[in-house]
Amino acid sequence: MERRTIGATALETGAVGLGCMPMSWAYTSSRQRGEESVRALHRALDLGANLLDTADMYGPFTNELLIGRVLRERRAEAFVSTKAGLLVGDQHIVANGRPSYIRRACDASLRRLQTDVIDLYQLHRADPEIPIEETWGAMADLVRAGKVRALGLCAVGARASRRSGTGVGRPVAGGLHEGTVRQLERVQQVFPVAAVQAELSVWSPEALADLLPWCEARGVGFLAAMPLGNGFLTGTLTPGSGFEPDDVRARHPRFTAEMMAANQPVVAGLRRVAARHGPAATPAQTALAWTLAQGRHVIPVPGAKRARWVEENAAAAALTLSAADLAEISALPAALGSWD
Ligand SMILES: NC(=O)c1ccc[n+]([C@@H]2O[C@H](COP(=O)([O-])OP(=O)(O)OC[C@H]3O[C@@H](n4cnc5c(N)ncnc54)[C@H](OP(=O)(O)O)[C@@H]3O)[C@@H](O)[C@H]2O)c1
Repeated sequence: MERRTIGATALETGAVGLGCMPMSWAYTSSRQRGEESVRALHRALDLGANLLDTADMYGPFTNELLIGRVLRERRAEAFVSTKAGLLVGDQHIVANGRPSYIRRACDASLRRLQTDVIDLYQLHRADPEIPIEETWGAMADLVRAGKVRALGLCAVGARASRRSGTGVGRPVAGGLHEGTVRQLERVQQVFPVAAVQAELSVWSPEALADLLPWCEARGVGFLAAMPLGNGFLTGTLTPGSGFEPDDVRARHPRFTAEMMAANQPVVAGLRRVAARHGPAATPAQTALAWTLAQGRHVIPVPGAKRARWVEENAAAAALTLSAADLAEISALPAALGSWD
């Protein structure tokens, strides 16, 4: 598989990574798929899709434990990317950016992952009660202590906190991530940011307007979260089939039966472009190839818990879209359904 570097660091990974969240969190029946997930992790490493993106809060904790089972045998082949800063309570998820907590969280992640170093340690969310410089300073100390190789900041969640009409090829004026850019400017004064992680996909292209150019100009890598639109862009989800209450899509405004039906032209467009690349090319691969085409600093982390999806997604690294393909995707109708 094509290799890409994490920003200006010397760290390299496969161009397509693996988002491990669906193995333990956010999607229905995640908890019953342990062995299948382990097979998917092994397949990802076999294929060079070796950036394994997790977080202590996925599960909570069980996702890192699952990955640890694989890392115990194959640590040298993997690029381990995890996150801290969000705590799962009975009713709410809360941010904790206290330096003492960050230090404890890192040691706990190292234990669960069965490794002595994390390649990319990301701040999952800034804690509004702690100056971000203090949190980031504690994370920088982890690099100096040799427990972590590089630092990243997540900007996922901005969509839910902002009223916006969004769509393919129509980034929000003023930028969805103004607050994140301000945070990035502040933490850069403390210690270099190696990578930013935020949502980027054919139906959520807002990062193209602000975050991607910011990263490119400063030699910062970009991990594209939710590059398959939580599964919608794969064309395998049927409008109206519904989601279990514990599935994030049960509350997601784009996953009502009405919005899934209304957004079918986006999937149809991906299908049309895929068809030009041979009978085996899929909408999922086209969506990932579009993400890869947004810059050499972009690494999509499609979530999957099945080896079959991992294989399909890894093959997207070899799918090169033409300028006409990219223009056709940019001209697709705006995706409907927002968090307003
Ligand atoms: N930093 C943050 O706050 C944050 C937030 C959200 C996500 N993320 C990261 O981004 C990663 C990806 O996001 P995501 O998993 O929510 O969304 P996604 O990658 O857009 O979509 C994942 C969904 O697509 C399905 N899928 C994957 N490949 C497929 C294929 N080839 N054909 C058909 N279906 C396929 C998966 O099914 P199965 O589950 O059945 O395999 C899963 O339900 C996460 O794993 C996580 O690492 C980070």
